[in-house]
Amino acid sequence: MSYIVGNWKMNGTQQEAQLLAAGLVSYAAQGEISLPHIVICPPYPYLFPLKAMLAGSPLKLGGQDCSPEKKGSFTGDVSVSQLVDAGCTYVIIGHSERRRYHQESSALIQQKVKTALEGGLTPILCIGEEAEDYEKGNVFSVLEQQLASDLPQEDVKIENLLIAYEPVWAIGTGLTPKPEEIEKVASFIKKTLAETRSLDVPLLYGGSANAENAASFLKLPSIEGLLVGTASLKLEEFTTIIKEAGGPA
Ligand code: PGA
Repeated sequence: MSYIVGNWKMNGTQQEAQLLAAGLVSYAAQGEISLPHIVICPPYPYLFPLKAMLAGSPLKLGGQDCSPEKKGSFTGDVSVSQLVDAGCTYVIIGHSERRRYHQESSALIQQKVKTALEGGLTPILCIGEEAEDYEKGNVFSVLEQQLASDLPQEDVKIENLLIAYEPVWAIGTGLTPKPEEIEKVASFIKKTLAETRSLDVPLLYGGSANAENAASFLKLPSIEGLLVGTASLKLEEFTTIIKEAGGPA
C-alpha cells in the first residue's frame, strides 16, 4: 500500500488546520477501498486538536521535526515522546529546509532518526541533491553519502522507516525531474540500501508533486508514495492525489 504524506510546513491558522483535517476525515470515511496510508504533518500547535479530530479515522499524524534529545533543557525543541503524546506515529527528519535554515548536519539528523526509532515513531528521512549536484551529474554520489551518514549505525534496529527522495531544487519550485529520472534514482537508493544495510523500506518522492503529476510518479516501480508540500494545503488537490494512490474515488 502506498503512502501520501502532507507536509503543511509553517502554514495556516488553527481554524484552517481544522477545516482541512475535517475535510480529509470525511473524504477518508467515504470508503475503505484500499486507502493509501495518509499522513498529515501540521505545525506543532495544531497536533493536539487534530489528534482529537483524527481519532477513529485512518488518517495518521506526523511531526515535521523532533529533538535528538529525549527531554530536558532544550528551549524551543519538541521531543519524540511529546510527539507521541500529541498523536503522532510519524516524524519528518532531515527535510532540506531544516538542513538549509537550521544548518542541520548529518550527525544531528542521524541522532534524530535514532531517537525517533527508539521512541516508536516512524521517521520519514528526507534526502536529495542540490541543483548544482543535479547539473553536475553528482546525484548518485550525494545520495550515497547521505544514506551512509544520515542513517543510524548497525547498533540501532531499523524496523519502521520511510525514505523520501526530494531533490532540493524541486521543492516548492514547480520543477520536477522527469519520471524516468526519478525511477533511476529511486532504484539506485533501493539498491544501495539493500547492499549496504540489508534494508527494504518504502521510498517516497517529494518536490512539487501535485494533482497533475502525481499519477506519473506513483506508477514508477520503485516509488511507493509521495511527500507533498504546497499541494497538501488544498483539500481538493490533496484528495485528488490520494485518489491517484488508490483512495476512494
Ligand atoms: P512542495 O514541498 O510539494 O511544496 O514542493 C515538498 C516538501 O517540501 O516536502
